[in-house]
Amino acid sequence: EMKSGPKDFLHINDFDKETILKIINRASEVKALLKSGDRSFLPFKGKTMAMIFAKPSMRTRVSFETGFFLLGGHAIYLGPDDIQMGKREETRDVARVLSRYNDILMARVFSHQVRWFVAFFDIPMAHVISHAQPLMRSHEITWMDQNPTQTGNASCDDHPSFAEGRGNFELDFSSEAPLILHIAEVGHMYVAAKGDACYRREDILDLAAYSSVPVINGLTDYNHPCQIMADALTIIEHIGQLEGAKVVYVGDGNNIVHSWLLLASVVPFHFVCACPKGFEPDEKTVEKARSAGVSKIEITDGPKEAVKGADVVYSDVWASMGQKEEASYRKQKFQGFQIDEALMEIAGPKAYFMHCLPTERGVEVTNGVIEAPNSIVFPQAENRMHAQNAIMLHLLGL
Ligand code: CP
Ligand code: NVA
Repeated sequence: EMKSGPKDFLHINDFDKETILKIINRASEVKALLKSGDRSFLPFKGKTMAMIFAKPSMRTRVSFETGFFLLGGHAIYLGPDDIQMGKREETRDVARVLSRYNDILMARVFSHQVRWFVAFFDIPMAHVISHAQPLMRSHEITWMDQNPTQTGNASCDDHPSFAEGRGNFELDFSSEAPLILHIAEVGHMYVAAKGDACYRREDILDLAAYSSVPVINGLTDYNHPCQIMADALTIIEHIGQLEGAKVVYVGDGNNIVHSWLLLASVVPFHFVCACPKGFEPDEKTVEKARSAGVSKIEITDGPKEAVKGADVVYSDVWASMGQKEEASYRKQKFQGFQIDEALMEIAGPKAYFMHCLPTERGVEVTNGVIEAPNSIVFPQAENRMHAQNAIMLHLLGL
């Protein structure tokens, strides 16, 4: 088959509707073949895949490794302590080395794009970003401290005066320019530069840019495209088609939501995200999905109204990987957003329940909802392998 679209699978909307539906269709075909017990289809024979994990995983690791093996290939698992991309070695070097050994790379990392991590300890929040080099002036800096009540954006020209607080700060920007930030506090000037207390974190866009072989996004803090491809396959299997379906996500406006939004900018359906104020998905991504003009997209803080008439009610953890220390804070903020039997009752009899898993039963969803007959979380998990097999076949032009 002739391959179309970009070399990597990083965001669903990098591909057109035809290609996305073709991949999903291929997933069904290869799934049927594997389910029949046929093991003669070995398109990945003689091929190897390196799988980079900076975070834990069950589904992603096992489904990729198993799927690649079942179709004839060999997959290598690299855990968080192995190559330490962006820490032990720069991402661009990892990319160029691994693509000389492997035919394809899969990565689960924290950062989606270049991100500098600067550890400042015991600096009062009020004095954090007082000045930046002219080089940096046009770039937006996202700052974040450990207290989740205080997050936001500040351009370098700003002199934000924040409430008192101390902690670590993450500076997000996509510039290749050297980072020289003057972090001033009363009686103390802190200058962070690359190679100093400031280092470049692992990020998937860099990995893909420097890799000569296809790179697949196995989840970043920004999105999780393989999951939503598997979810689309699952919806098609249960409802007949995704087009026109009403999918209502209830919970945190996180990486899962971003992938739903990016799918909605390619394939038409009705997507609703019900999340507490302050936990909305990334504004630019919502805007991108809306301006694509393909799907009806709603962001609301009213889960009860949102779920009415849903074909799918979807949930995910309230505290994602990397946010676990915020779990109890988030539990308070997400009161009223748990998917329970009463909410599924409002959704109506045709509503399926979906969850990317892992789940914290009794937090974002009740045990009863997960175990109910209309819960399709396990077929959904199973489809990770089939969706990914089809993604890999597409990227390898097979
Ligand atoms: N849904 C999902 O990606 O699961 P893992 O974190 O176990 O890979
Ligand atoms: N939002 C979750 C998804 C896990 C598959 C996380 O990032 O941890």
